[in-house]
Amino acid sequence: MKRKVLVVDDDLAIVEVLEMRLVAMGYEVTATSDAEKALNSVESTRFDLALIDLRMAPTDGIALMESVHTRQPRLPVLIMTAHGTIETAVDAVQRGAFDYLTKPFLRDELRAKIGRALASRRWARDRERLLAVGQTLASSGIMARVLDAVAQGAVETTEAERCVVFQQEHGRLVPMASSGSPPPSWPALEAAAAEAMAKGVPVTFPGSAAGAIVAAPLVVQRGPAGALVIETAAGIEPNEDDLELLALFSSQAAVAVRNTHELERLRTGALAALGRMATQVAHELKNPLAGLRLYARHLEQRLTRNGDGEGSELAQKITSTVDHLAAVVQEITAFGRPPELHRVPTRLPVLLDECVAFAEAKCETPGVEVVRAYDASCPEAMLDARELRKALLNLVLNAMESLGPGGKLTVSTGFSAETRTVTVIIEDTGCGMTEETLSRMFDLFFTTKPQGTGLGMALARSVVDLHGGDLAIHSTVGKGTRVTIRLPVDGEPADGRDGARA
Ligand SMILES: Nc1ncnc2c1ncn2[C@@H]1O[C@H](COP(=O)(O)OP(=O)(O)OP(=O)(O)O)[C@@H](O)[C@H]1O
Ligand SMILES: [Mg+2]
Repeated sequence: MKRKVLVVDDDLAIVEVLEMRLVAMGYEVTATSDAEKALNSVESTRFDLALIDLRMAPTDGIALMESVHTRQPRLPVLIMTAHGTIETAVDAVQRGAFDYLTKPFLRDELRAKIGRALASRRWARDRERLLAVGQTLASSGIMARVLDAVAQGAVETTEAERCVVFQQEHGRLVPMASSGSPPPSWPALEAAAAEAMAKGVPVTFPGSAAGAIVAAPLVVQRGPAGALVIETAAGIEPNEDDLELLALFSSQAAVAVRNTHELERLRTGALAALGRMATQVAHELKNPLAGLRLYARHLEQRLTRNGDGEGSELAQKITSTVDHLAAVVQEITAFGRPPELHRVPTRLPVLLDECVAFAEAKCETPGVEVVRAYDASCPEAMLDARELRKALLNLVLNAMESLGPGGKLTVSTGFSAETRTVTVIIEDTGCGMTEETLSRMFDLFFTTKPQGTGLGMALARSVVDLHGGDLAIHSTVGKGTRVTIRLPVDGEPADGRDGARA
């Protein structure tokens, strides 16, 4: 890509000469004698350099440079002057010019100063902005969001082309979040991340045709948990200052990652304890409930025999309430002990059809549309059909329960021969989830429904985990929710799984 240069001089002859020379030097040139026009182009184009005449009427060059800088703060400006004195040059530089050029231009001086201005173009300057990003990071508790904020913040702060955050997972580097344009080459970024992690300090790989790559390790507790990798635009080389800033940024990001880990650990620890307690309580409830059910049945029969219709109806209600309680207890007990999987060749469309049929029968909302799209190339998968049915049923029910009149539920499958995984997507156009619900939906007993037990999502995740799969949720309030489940078809997690590139 050609570098873009802006030339502003009220002397048309100079504008013409400069334009010719710069075009010959390989730049894309916007040349004008009108300050107003120059400002308009700065609004719409991201320049790499500006050459501005010092003495212009009605605006002088320094004032124009200052207006340009309010629009593109980091644009290097060379001030041109025919009557340059040291004072005016110093003044220009103090007010933000990169350097000055004296007219008439000497070819070598022009070339050298333009080259230097372009090379030294800063790609990270805003310390304050950096700190602000750090603070936003610290306030979120969801890992995916923290990493997204890291990537986005890094691109915004440095004006880099792209940023990818890698995390070390099971000995592999997995891209977890990215921002900016898609990278032309993943291996180069991954290699940079690996080296930064090995060295424990930021490393730079000078750019060739593409930009430079800079990687900084994310150091969490004992060692690097990943790396922040940035690629700059072609020709822009980071300097010492920039590296220091990137190190600062990655340490902020590392703090955010550590906090989020900690929070997740606390949550799972507390959940496990709560789960054990719930299982014990459920176990204690089982026998008395069975007794209660028996007595209620006796009572019901006796009242019926004595012709007390009203009384027997009441007794019946007791029985069905007890049945409901027993079912909940059963579920909690089952949850406390993750089952051994009994994998058998299973056809997912059949399972899904069963779940959809059940959910449709249960659904009271009018005008709900159900769309099914099963991938015919999807083979039978080695799954525990019973466990998976429970998980899928809850997800389909959740989707159905979220729908308003006229809503749509889409259930689809897909198969990747390369990774030997099936993907099941359950998507609704329902109410969606708030941040709070998103961060708590897997918590045991978390529910927003009057009749909910809040066990469904926890169960679904545990079943998918047991199968060596993964479950991802995307949800927008008022728009709907998409649940994506990936499962290995052969029973073992397939090699080369990586969640973030998709
Ligand atoms: N598809 C969805 N759309 C909107 N909210 C959802 C969806 N799926 C889950 N949720 C939210 O997550 C919460 C927890 O879901 P979960 O399935 O664990 O429990 P539940 O559906 O409330 O009760 P149950 O134990 O009966 O399934 C729900 O109460 C709901 O707020
Ligand atoms: Mg549910």
